[in-house]
Amino acid sequence: MRVLMIGDVVGSGGRKAVNKLLRNLRSELDIDFVTLQGENLAAGIGLTVDTVAEMTEAGADVITTGNHVWDKREIIEHLDDPYLPVLRPLNYPPGTPGRGSTDDSGPIAVINLIGRVWVGEFDSPFAVVDDLLAGGFGQGKPIVVDFHAEATSEKGALAWHLDGRVAAVVGTHTHVPTSDCKVLPEGTGFVTDLGMVGAVDSILGVEVEGSLERFLTNRRQRMQPVRSGLINFNSVLIDIDSSTGLATSVERVDRQIEV
Ligand SMILES: [Fe+2]
Ligand SMILES: [Fe+2]
Repeated sequence: MRVLMIGDVVGSGGRKAVNKLLRNLRSELDIDFVTLQGENLAAGIGLTVDTVAEMTEAGADVITTGNHVWDKREIIEHLDDPYLPVLRPLNYPPGTPGRGSTDDSGPIAVINLIGRVWVGEFDSPFAVVDDLLAGGFGQGKPIVVDFHAEATSEKGALAWHLDGRVAAVVGTHTHVPTSDCKVLPEGTGFVTDLGMVGAVDSILGVEVEGSLERFLTNRRQRMQPVRSGLINFNSVLIDIDSSTGLATSVERVDRQIEV
């Protein structure tokens, strides 16, 4: 079974690139299931019902998120809708709207977690995922994990913690792709960060001017995603042995496209 996991899709430029590339990639690479990091889908911060629908029509099966999931308020009341294929990190406090895992959205089960180092104060992703797995999550399907975290060490630690228990752990949030794809000794595929679907000429997908000005002046600036031009499409393909539910290979699938 082959799963493609796509990094943070930034604004309309990112969505256009997904629209142009994903259908062809699905057939070219014989992909069975696609996860897409959607926390930056709508104007670079947050996501909406419409932008989610656009990405599922483009070929995404499950949309994972992170710290920006709350930024467009309209999505919040829909997060508990069983038909909306959107996860928010599992380790938010009990009672938070939405769900952090799904094992009934296709042939692959998905878990979304958020890190605590330089991101925020959340429940321990390690303890929370242990509890979920101990409860029989997955219905026997291979499980992939999007760990939305800043620190490379925290992402690596979670992957090793879950080695042999899930098919893959991939990092997101930095928007910078890493070249360390590997399969850990007990069969869990890992990459520190998927990267993004966002503009080449940008800072993490947003216009250089606003982002740079923030560092020059120490004042908050208006951040606008880059809407057109050359877009980096960053993703990782995980090959999974269906009989074991574990990874046999992990490789980067990176493309560039003009939108
Ligand atoms: Fe992001
Ligand atoms: Fe993030």
